Amino acid sequence: MTKVLVATEKPFAAVAVEGIRKVVEEAGFELALLEKYSSRQELLDAAAGADAIIIRSDKIGEDVFAAAPSVKIVVRAGAGYDNVDLQAATAHGVVVENTPGQNSNAVAELAFGMMVMAVRNCYDGTSGSELAGKSLGIQAFGQVGRNVARIAKGFGMSVMAVDPYCPEQVLVDAGVEPCKTVEKLYHDNRFISVNIPATPETVKSIGYDLLTSMPKNGVVINTARKEVIDEEGLARALDARPDLKYFADVRPDSADDLIARFGNRVFFTPKKMGAQTAEANINAGIAAARQIVAYFKEGCERFRVNK
Ligand code: 3PG
Repeated sequence: MTKVLVATEKPFAAVAVEGIRKVVEEAGFELALLEKYSSRQELLDAAAGADAIIIRSDKIGEDVFAAAPSVKIVVRAGAGYDNVDLQAATAHGVVVENTPGQNSNAVAELAFGMMVMAVRNCYDGTSGSELAGKSLGIQAFGQVGRNVARIAKGFGMSVMAVDPYCPEQVLVDAGVEPCKTVEKLYHDNRFISVNIPATPETVKSIGYDLLTSMPKNGVVINTARKEVIDEEGLARALDARPDLKYFADVRPDSADDLIARFGNRVFFTPKKMGAQTAEANINAGIAAARQIVAYFKEGCERFRVNK
């Protein structure tokens, strides 16, 4: 029987696992569950007998593919697949897919949760400011960026976005001002929402120059990946500009140092939780299960990300 392993170091909500189980079992497949695992060996042992694996930010590389020769497809229940070694997957003939858009509203809502927290001084009771009438720059107009834009309108913000891979008309249709360069985005907007993936092109791309070019009382919200920040440049910028704030759902390596130096001008969730809602878990988890069924039953590879 085709065996589908859900391997999530950070588990889905129980209701999402039930939904995944239903899809998998209705297809006549078997579900195996490995949640909150703490060692690599546990993952390798669980993967060994699987034909398909559903993951979240779990790291999947050569060791997993070598230990699990029967695996034919890995689906990342979520958007970013920088945690999967695509080259190794291709070398082992494994299809890798993601589930774009399924958890993006949850991430966008958290971005606003952090934006409000930043302008209300981490709810310390002191006088803060409002989002209405302020300018927001969205860095990348993918599924999360689009949800951020939609919610920003409700807050009464003006919205600009930069995305070299997205047709300008998509931004215009969403009532968003297209911006040609990342430099202009940071220079012109008091709030920035970082929604870029971690790629060789974007890693460490946000640093001192961009951050210090922001208007007074600039706030950067990063719900994307820690790797896109040049942490040394971030610390220098926060030092040079006591009015700047950096709030992130992706804890930087230097988090403790940044908190010690800059207090509540920085904030980091203890564990990435942008997509950690029952709704996002259900959407992404069930989409992943359906994609696996479609792959085995119909040969469908619509969401394949490796060649
Ligand atoms: C994603 O890329 O989909 C988000 O970063 C969510 O990741 P998670 O599934 O680890 O919460």
